[in-house]
Amino acid sequence: MVGIYFSGTGNSKCAAELFCKEYDNESSAYSIEKKETLAAVTDADFFIIAYPVQFSTVPKILRDYITDHKELWVGKKVFIIATMGLFSGDGSGSLGRLLQSCGANVIGGLHLKMPDSIADEKALKRPLEKNKELVKQAEQKIKESVKRLKAGNPTQEGIGVLYRLAGFFGQRAYFGHKTRAYSSKLKVDADKCIGCGLCEKLCPMKNISIKDQKAVSSDRCTMCYRCINKCPRQALTLLGKRVVEQCGIEKYI
Ligand SMILES: Cc1cc2nc3c(=O)[nH]c(=O)nc-3n(C[C@H](O)[C@H](O)[C@H](O)COP(=O)(O)O)c2cc1C
Ligand code: SF4
Ligand code: SF4
Repeated sequence: MVGIYFSGTGNSKCAAELFCKEYDNESSAYSIEKKETLAAVTDADFFIIAYPVQFSTVPKILRDYITDHKELWVGKKVFIIATMGLFSGDGSGSLGRLLQSCGANVIGGLHLKMPDSIADEKALKRPLEKNKELVKQAEQKIKESVKRLKAGNPTQEGIGVLYRLAGFFGQRAYFGHKTRAYSSKLKVDADKCIGCGLCEKLCPMKNISIKDQKAVSSDRCTMCYRCINKCPRQALTLLGKRVVEQCGIEKYI
């Protein structure tokens, strides 16, 4: 088994790595951002794929990765882990349907509530202790899910018609359009930005460049929130107007 993940702020990476470690000593998790990943996973016949839910759908960068490498999934067994701040309905199912359309055999799904990566929406922020507790609970859920997978009875969270209806009416119908294309909405506060270049270095989409010692955003943002959570001057925002709290999995484990 091999793990593949896309992760903006580390939750999905952490989940994929722990799942692999629990499964056996030979399984490893690979980021879709790394060039060497394709070569490392090509011969696998069983994948787990972890990703952060965005409005009950799959981030555009991961959708593109799946469809750009269609041949990789044909006839392969896939188990999906969807990480989320609160609720996704059919997080696993959303990616599952895409993979099935590429010929994969989706055998189950797991939903993990984790710290919310949206740093610029006050209503979504939780106290540090609460986030630590969520991560502990997620670890426990992963252990139980691996046990069930090994026993031939994989968890089916997010898979099926009822979950799909919940995902559609709970989120996608109203906000799903936001992830249909890459976004041009990342905002840079030029008064705060010191041109350190960290955001440019971290962005998985090469959406940011530094010009005249200020960050400049383009129209290729996959809304992963990595740069927003890491900017030392809190100069970046996307959905909200100001950064309330910066998160990252390293704060919670
Ligand atoms: C643009 C965006 C949309 C999101 N939409 C949802 C959502 O619909 N439901 C939810 O529970 N969490 C939502 N989240 C929260 C993330 O899914 C969650 O924090 C995830 O665990 C982040 O994982 P990562 O650290 O691997 O990026 C959203 C986050 C972002 C950045
Ligand atoms: S990380 Fe922040 S301060 Fe540094 S260049 Fe990017 S926006 Fe500016
Ligand atoms: S600009 Fe920021 S939020 Fe957008 S894809 Fe790049 S790192 Fe992620």
